[in-house]
Amino acid sequence: MSNPSLLILAGDGIGPEVMEQVKRIIGWYGAKRDLTFDVSEDLVGGAAYDAHGTPLHDDTMARAQEVDAVLLGAVGGPKYDALDFSVKPERGLLRLRKEMDLFSNLRPAQCFDALADFSSLKRDVVAGLDIMIVRELTSGIYFGEPRGIFKEGNERVGVNTQRYTESEIDRVARSAFELARKRGNKVCSMEKANVMESGILWREVVQKVHDEDYPDVELSHMYADAGAMQLCRWPKQFDVIVTDNLFGDLLSDAAAMLTGSLGMLPSASLGAPMANGRPKALYEPVHGSAPDIAGQGKANPIACILSFAMALRYSFSQGAEADRLEAAVEKVLADGLRTADLIGEDGVQPVSTTQMGDAILAALDDSL
Ligand code: NAD
Ligand code: IPM
Ligand code: MN
Repeated sequence: MSNPSLLILAGDGIGPEVMEQVKRIIGWYGAKRDLTFDVSEDLVGGAAYDAHGTPLHDDTMARAQEVDAVLLGAVGGPKYDALDFSVKPERGLLRLRKEMDLFSNLRPAQCFDALADFSSLKRDVVAGLDIMIVRELTSGIYFGEPRGIFKEGNERVGVNTQRYTESEIDRVARSAFELARKRGNKVCSMEKANVMESGILWREVVQKVHDEDYPDVELSHMYADAGAMQLCRWPKQFDVIVTDNLFGDLLSDAAAMLTGSLGMLPSASLGAPMANGRPKALYEPVHGSAPDIAGQGKANPIACILSFAMALRYSFSQGAEADRLEAAVEKVLADGLRTADLIGEDGVQPVSTTQMGDAILAALDDSL
């Protein structure tokens, strides 16, 4: 059997810096666990724009459709702020998500014990936290038509459209219920059914999917604004949260701070199964290209490394190896290693991106 294939799109800013550490870990699995991937690399975002005048070349898009999984670093940066909207770096990422039809975006927020004092919330509130936000990723206001900036009388109007079909809600709800069954068996669905018709439909469809096919899973509904408040007040009340594209974007950044840093949060974006049974998949950290620290060796590579752990689990059925990698991360944090984003007032000296990679590789060696 041929090796599973990975396409690496490191992107911009700290993307290539954190991805460098992931490449070392992929190499480790080949050398030490006989788990070898056929790795190819290409450009996305500003890097692709610089080379080709587009944030995602058609050849790269075609390659992404063929591989077993895509690993993405981050896209964007101030250098590209003035570009036309249609060629902005972020459009490359949105095209990948849309054309691969990656409708279910898994964003876990887990608080490692060693970081419980680093969260901006009290230790009690976050210690032991393990929640999963399932964000719908291919529809909603990110993609709805009409959209644009139009002339209306003698002024301009900016238009975006929140739009969800029943089938789009149905499929993401199912993915949330399936996940819940493997975890705490609880789903909280968030929308704004009090003010939006799309929210009313969302609530109805999620409830119907539940009643027909997942009555064993505990389901609750919450308005997304109240959900944001509850996420800060007592996040451990949640197991799986399922929500739309925009609310999921906001709620997952908020959830990141429960874990201590945006540099800690991985994600998996999954679509329908391919012919080989694996889901279409893209794995990326939740954070962006962090222009403020790019090129300084300060970036925390853990979100990107944990995204690769998710690839091991969700694309390659290597749950035990994913556990091994997550345990290695947990161990270096317990040993007190911190990148700059995880330094509080305690005077600990931060380590560099590469040093964090070194320590995780050493912990992987120790696990054998
Ligand atoms: P950001 O996530 O890049 O940075 C927010 C803050 O978090 C910054 O202070 C940054 O230094 C810090 N941070 C983020 N990741 C870190 C890490 N791994 N280690 C240490 N610190 C980290 O968000 P932003 O500043 O709003 O956006 C910058 C650019 O990234 C924009 O162009 C935006 O569109 C893009 N972006 C891309 C993605 C993506 O590629 N998936 C996600 C979010 C933002
Ligand atoms: C994310 C990012 C993206 C989003 C941007 C970069 C398109 O913020 O992955 O959370 O808004 O989805
Ligand atoms: Mn975001």
